[in-house]
Amino acid sequence: MDAALTPREIVKELDKFIIGQKEAKRMVAIALRNRWRRRQLEPELREEVAPKNIIMIGPTGVGKTEVARRLANLAGSPFSKVEASKFTEIGYVGRDVESMIRDLMEIGVNMVTQEERDNVQDKAREMAEEALLDLLLPSSKSKRKDTGQQQETAAQSTEVSQGEQTETMTTREKFRQMWREGKLDERYVELEVEGSGPQVGVMSMPGMGDMEMQMQDMFSKMFPKKKKTRKMRVPEAFEYLVQQESDRLIDQDKVMEMAKDRVEQSGIIFIDELDKVCSKQDSGQQSDVSREGVQRDLLPVVEGCVVNTKYGMIRTDHILFIASGAFHYSKPSDLVPELQGRFPLRVELSALSQEEFYRILTEPQNALTKQYEAMLATEAVEVEYTEDGLREMARFAQKINEDTENIGARRLYTLMERVLHDLSFEAPDMGSGRVSVDAEYVQDKLRDIQEDRDLTRYIL
Ligand SMILES: Nc1ncnc2c1ncn2[C@@H]1O[C@H](COP(=O)(O)OP(=O)(O)OP(=O)(O)O)[C@@H](O)[C@H]1O
Ligand SMILES: [Mg+2]
Repeated sequence: MDAALTPREIVKELDKFIIGQKEAKRMVAIALRNRWRRRQLEPELREEVAPKNIIMIGPTGVGKTEVARRLANLAGSPFSKVEASKFTEIGYVGRDVESMIRDLMEIGVNMVTQEERDNVQDKAREMAEEALLDLLLPSSKSKRKDTGQQQETAAQSTEVSQGEQTETMTTREKFRQMWREGKLDERYVELEVEGSGPQVGVMSMPGMGDMEMQMQDMFSKMFPKKKKTRKMRVPEAFEYLVQQESDRLIDQDKVMEMAKDRVEQSGIIFIDELDKVCSKQDSGQQSDVSREGVQRDLLPVVEGCVVNTKYGMIRTDHILFIASGAFHYSKPSDLVPELQGRFPLRVELSALSQEEFYRILTEPQNALTKQYEAMLATEAVEVEYTEDGLREMARFAQKINEDTENIGARRLYTLMERVLHDLSFEAPDMGSGRVSVDAEYVQDKLRDIQEDRDLTRYIL
């Protein structure tokens, strides 16, 4: 987990995906490292140290969400993203703000379950193979079980069945061989699968999230799932059995315990559009009430409280909250004072410039240019970008952002899609080939747009 990485190393990892925004990277790196530091403390003191939540301020499309997401990835932290403005929709009647903790726990449980599945993978596949052979050769199954469980009866009939047993065992081994070589892939087996239980619709009302959840849980216990038999092809059956066996090998209680710990100690919640719940955003008096209401709803969760989820009680004290917003029309100081105190760290992300666009196009591990290159390679078309071609795209992105609306790095998406539009369409018909995306190519593809400003607004 996040134990080993120093702030410098964290920044270095983030650099692989995000260009610039040095201050924001440094700040989240410290936040992550602080968690590790906290864990080294004496228990009493450890309880006292609260995370320093962060507000990222910056225009759209400059990497706010991306920084937080990559950080969570790096730390192996359960991560979830919510829009603060979502809570306004139902206004101060209150869409349950606590639902974000439930969502995070859901993500944590999935994460740990997946890890545990991976851990028992080999064992589960082994067991699934045996189970599959049992299905293919029911006779060999009874013998196999007998030898283990019913010692006495087996002993009585040893002389009779010895020969028979070795025979079925060898048949079993033959089948095993055939299965491994894929020779049984076309065969069908019958398998007992879990049918879905009766669907019980529970009336749901806003703010009732908790009760609804408990009722659904109760109903599913009252009506256990029915078993039914299904026919399926051998490979499909095998995958099903692997799933079944790994579920059996995983200790559910342990998973819950681990997930709870992971969420409480290293969960990260990203609250987007925090500025939208600032009172001063516009002067509409009426909406102010609900906006402040949302902030007040957020308070206990951010401040540390206990939330009831279907996996038990979750304490939010040490969950890290990273909020973000453009804060064009309001300032963090327009937030209710208590909330300001809970987000002591502020960092500004700067708007991106032409030079950064160029780097975003080329440097990140998942750079757009690399994505298109790989996608088109599947059609045997080799795309090559020249230096001046990339510079030209960066220049265009900058220009269009200036001329119309500044949507940051997202401009590169619309732009590249446009530049490679024809090629994407024609690639399969080209047989194979090589295309060089140079400045001329870029200009050619963007010519009509360049000449017509109205068109720009629609297309890019
Ligand atoms: N500095 C950057 N380096 C690399 N890629 C970036 C950078 N900034 C943005 N991007 C890319 O642009 C896209 C949008 O970025 P992101 O979602 O982080 O924007 P945001 O700042 O959260 O904007 P919004 O305020 O609209 O939510 C992402 O796909 C991201 O990969
Ligand atoms: Mg965002």
